[in-house]
Amino acid sequence: MTKILVTGAAGFIGSHTVDLLLAEGHEVTGLDNFRTGREENLAAAFGHPRFKLIRADAAEPGVLAHILAEDKPEAVLHLAALVSVPESIAQPGLNRRLNIEMTGLLAQAAVTAPGVRRLVLASSAAVYGACPDLPLREESAGRPLSPYGAAKLASEHILGRAVLAQPGLSALALRYFNVYGPRQDPRSPYSGVISLFAAALREGRAPAIHGDGGQTRDFIAVADVARANLLALTRPLSGFHVLNVCTGRAVSLQELLAAMGQALGAAVQPARAPARVGDIRHSLGFPGRAESLLGFRAGGDLTSGLARLLRD
Ligand code: UD1
Repeated sequence: MTKILVTGAAGFIGSHTVDLLLAEGHEVTGLDNFRTGREENLAAAFGHPRFKLIRADAAEPGVLAHILAEDKPEAVLHLAALVSVPESIAQPGLNRRLNIEMTGLLAQAAVTAPGVRRLVLASSAAVYGACPDLPLREESAGRPLSPYGAAKLASEHILGRAVLAQPGLSALALRYFNVYGPRQDPRSPYSGVISLFAAALREGRAPAIHGDGGQTRDFIAVADVARANLLALTRPLSGFHVLNVCTGRAVSLQELLAAMGQALGAAVQPARAPARVGDIRHSLGFPGRAESLLGFRAGGDLTSGLARLLRD
């Protein structure tokens, strides 16, 4: 059993990871300020004897240092962040505070808290920007296109420096690709395309394809991401590592709609919308490093993942 702190525990990825960590016998402290996290996401965790929730803002100086000193976790999964790319463009100051400075506060606190052995950071495929060399490998030069991607890249460097400063600490930055699954909030127009399509189908509307539908993404189920987080928190490793969390399979929006139709047992007719300005044509990750370092391989096939999502 490992004692684990999860920041952003009430979020989409956080809550699925908390559920898995508890099921695997770990002791979990969740931290959330509920800016975007939702209580109902933690419905299964509340009342669990190995779960505790702290309602506080991890970006406030002193908060993380206090929790690491008092609660004494051995590993920290840092998911608390500003998660919206458009919001990072509209509010660059908030992006800097939540996606760079907060990582700095965590790194500083972890370097001085003797019990913390492992930091795991939620990074993103957004660090690659429009890198044309596919599949994307971790060593590809990061050329982020948004303040969000740039901040995640900066946070990776912060983690690397913390490990140099405290050799007893190891750290992993996980570059999540396009994550989908239950509890992803479809209310923002910039939610993931799968949750937007699923919401449209549930409400009897035609899903809108921006552009010709030939664009591809590496869609990964949140259950797989939770498993990658678990392995990153608990596998024996030293040093600092950057890993893609992806499937290595490219799926076009047309294929996605066909798979949704298959899951529903009826063909889906999309509505057509103009291509998004700045849309990336293809994004695909190479999953080899996560497999060799963590033994992680994405398991869920898209059609059954979609079927589960559309049933819920
Ligand atoms: C992700 C981010 C986005 C960011 C980009 C670059 C999310 C949810 N989105 O976008 O904010 O700018 O990485 O780092 O994290 N699409 C439709 N119909 C819809 C919604 C989307 O056709 O209703 C298309 C998009 O134009 C895109 C594809 O679906 O081609 C995937 O969109 P999305 O889920 O937003 O992911 P990214 O484009 O990878």
